Amino acid sequence: MIAWVGHGYWLMVTLNMIYSRPFHRSFLRTLRKIYGLFLVIGPLAFGILVGFDLLANIDRAAGEPWVWGPLGYMLACAVLGGVWFPLVTLWRLTRRNPAAVLEEKTTMFDVEVELGRRPVGDGKHKHVAEWSFNGIFQVEFTTLRLKLPDLPPAWRGLTILHLSDLHLFGTPDLIHYQMLMRRCMADGKPDLVVLSGDIIDDGKYLDWIAPILGELSWNIAAVAILGNHDWWQDADAVRERMKACGFRILSNTSEVIDVRGLPLVAVGHEGPWFRPGPNVSALPEGFRLLVSHSPDNIGWARRHNFQLMLSGHNHGGQIRIPVVGSMFVPSWHSRKYDMGTFDEPPTVLHVNRGIAGKEPIRFRCPPQITRIVLE
Ligand SMILES: [Fe+2]
Repeated sequence: MIAWVGHGYWLMVTLNMIYSRPFHRSFLRTLRKIYGLFLVIGPLAFGILVGFDLLANIDRAAGEPWVWGPLGYMLACAVLGGVWFPLVTLWRLTRRNPAAVLEEKTTMFDVEVELGRRPVGDGKHKHVAEWSFNGIFQVEFTTLRLKLPDLPPAWRGLTILHLSDLHLFGTPDLIHYQMLMRRCMADGKPDLVVLSGDIIDDGKYLDWIAPILGELSWNIAAVAILGNHDWWQDADAVRERMKACGFRILSNTSEVIDVRGLPLVAVGHEGPWFRPGPNVSALPEGFRLLVSHSPDNIGWARRHNFQLMLSGHNHGGQIRIPVVGSMFVPSWHSRKYDMGTFDEPPTVLHVNRGIAGKEPIRFRCPPQITRIVLE
């Protein structure tokens, strides 16, 4: 059993790593099925081939050297499942917010309660939205007060509304998104709005962008980038629709935004899907904000001295098992940056769980909208 856990663990980690790379969807879909099959048939094949009695197999391996192969694999999986996995789980359970987070407050906004029904829409997977335990309509509004070194004193109290991963795919319905945007505005107009990618999952819903983003307003500027799901769609059409709503599109480019008389150097990173990445060799002086769909670009952000990085993409794993937490996280770092705030000097990274997902399912992992207050 422990070896099976280890077997599943390394499959999960490697699948997460592969999913972080810019492969075609059909390849990833096929690979996921192969992995699922391997997860089940691996231990069965082992039992049929060499039997489950470990001690008997050690004796047997003395006479039949080929037995060492599967036996060695089983022992390695037992160490992974019995030692490494519990240690990682314990480390993740005891992880606290870094000191950069002065305060984190959350309130739940239940669209189902507000509307009097579940806005399931007409998506391909709408039946999933009907499942009683599914939490896609209970959205967490997080207020995050961040203490950032080098923040110009004039920017104290500056607010950034951080939205991510709309995944327009029919479910949830349009009204769900509109109610969320109105709820954002009810908290007051933010100074900046940042949208960190994965806008649509089907070109059929391009027309939803204007009625959703049109609900928003801001004091200074709104910026947006695309994510891997937009890469699989008509990316230019998504950019045009967001631009028409007043968003500045930072697709692997930069813009200097005047914030209370001082320059905010805002850069968008859509890699590894959209290439080439942003050129930062001639960036002007100023506080640096990176909007990167994937938190995997944290190393790049640190090397180029970004003070704040805002990401989405990982959705917190969408399904979080009690104690264990997330499992499927499409990141090169597997579950490390699944959600939350990380202080890796000189960069403070916030990973938003996103508003939705292509598969409309959430369990112990509410969708999230973050209002960041800089201090
Ligand atoms: Fe996403």
